[in-house]
Amino acid sequence: MRILTGVQPSGKLHIGNYFGAMKPIISFQDKGESFVFIANYHALTTVHNREQLLADTLDVGLDFLACGLDPERTVFFRQSDVPEVQELAWLLSILTPMGLLERCHSYKDKLAKGMSATHGLFSYPVLMAADILLYQSDLVPVGKDQKQHLEVTRDLAIKFNNEFGEVFRIPEPYIPEEVAVVPGVDGQKMSKSYGNTIELFGNQKETKARIMRIVTDCKALEDPKDPATCNVFALYKLFASPEQRAEMEANYRGGNYGYGTAKKALYELFMQTFEPFRARREELVKNLDYVEEVFRKGAERARAAASVTLTKARCAVGLQQR
Ligand code: ADP
Ligand code: TRP
Repeated sequence: MRILTGVQPSGKLHIGNYFGAMKPIISFQDKGESFVFIANYHALTTVHNREQLLADTLDVGLDFLACGLDPERTVFFRQSDVPEVQELAWLLSILTPMGLLERCHSYKDKLAKGMSATHGLFSYPVLMAADILLYQSDLVPVGKDQKQHLEVTRDLAIKFNNEFGEVFRIPEPYIPEEVAVVPGVDGQKMSKSYGNTIELFGNQKETKARIMRIVTDCKALEDPKDPATCNVFALYKLFASPEQRAEMEANYRGGNYGYGTAKKALYELFMQTFEPFRARREELVKNLDYVEEVFRKGAERARAAASVTLTKARCAVGLQQR
């Protein structure tokens, strides 16, 4: 069983990324073969600043290693260190109906936010399909927002296999229901682009201030409250043990429990959970040569897997003799 996911280096990672993508793949390390990459080609669709892209790419690397990604067990690499993916994207693009891409919500959302309709943004899902298919991935942990891109990937893989012969494994998305959408401090989906995130390794004072700003309803202190509709609880339960969760639920339902107290409990549990990661990250920052070495080895292993698939695909379409 091979598991793969990619994360764009387009800003500081937040707890939506952690629960939606990082934690599931890190916990899979023991169960199968996992591949994780930093999607810097994809980030170029929105980040046009070299210093920022380089810094964000390194930050994502540090964040994953700090949060427990083990580069011995997981093939961890930068997308652009395996340029083979671009060739596969081309082979897939010759089969990609325009209409399929025109229907992609993520593309339409980006345009609605005022981004220019570039070819890169439009063909983003084709490159993503290439990422997934190049490594013959079985399972792709992603947040709910990426589900459609996985459907595009499956469509393209099936089309290619039908037209040119069996080359690709058909991947399945893995979308943990509990954390399908982690809410941000304003109650919308937590996302870098909405400015509503709680960063994994942000400044502690700022983190606390953000948590204290989480939007709630305006029930009075003495009123019983509904955990199921509360943003604070939605975040708390991601960190909490079953006992902590049950206790907080009882507090909500019992009344005389204010949102301020719940927010403080959330802050404390967040800090406690991330403390070991924070300490490890500080060590890694002092040893960037090690991080570079991790990327170098990761790229080597990724390229070995990539070249097997790419050769099959090239042979299948007639670019190369079998
Ligand atoms: P952002 O929306 O902040 O730009 P990305 O689109 O780069 O985040 O997402 C990186 C990974 O984290 C993807 O797998 C995505 O689905 C997941 N993810 C991002 N935000 C959330 C969220 N709020 N809830 C669950 N998963 C998320
Ligand atoms: N599009 C994904 C996101 O924004 C990042 C990504 C690129 C990805 N290639 C991928 C995720 C392949 C999973 C598999 O979150």
